[in-house]
Amino acid sequence: ESTTEVDVSAIEPGQAIKAVFRKQPLFVRRLTPKEIEEANAVPLSALRDPETLAERTKDGHLDMLVTMGVCTHLGCVPLGAAEGENKGEFGGYFCPCHGSSYDTAARIRKGPAPTNLVVPDYVFSSDTTITVG
Ligand code: FES
Repeated sequence: ESTTEVDVSAIEPGQAIKAVFRKQPLFVRRLTPKEIEEANAVPLSALRDPETLAERTKDGHLDMLVTMGVCTHLGCVPLGAAEGENKGEFGGYFCPCHGSSYDTAARIRKGPAPTNLVVPDYVFSSDTTITVG
C-alpha cells in the first residue's frame, strides 16, 4: 500500500490540481466561498448519492475537496480540474464520455454515473500538505 503526498499550498480558490494516487488521477480543488455556498444550498433529497460537503471534506477544511478523478460510471477522467475545462452545468466536474455532471462537492447530479466521485482516505499531514492513502 503506497501513500501519496500532495502540496496543496499553491492551489488558489477556484483552482484544482491533478495528481496521481495508485496510478489513478486524483483531483485536489480549493473551493471558492460561492462554490461552498452552492454545495451547501442543495437539499440532500435532491441528491442521488446524498452526502454533505462537510462529510466529504475534513474538519476546518471545507474548502479543500479531494476526490479521485475517475467517473463512477465507467471510469473516464472527468473534465473541470484544469483551467478552462468544462465544469458542467453544476459547476464541478463534467464527464464527456456519457455526460455525467458533478457539482461543486463532486456529487453526481445528472447523467449515468451512480455515485459521487470517490473521496479517498487522506489526512492533512501539515497545514499545506495532504497524505493520501
Ligand atoms: Fe463518465 Fe460514462 S464514464 S459518464
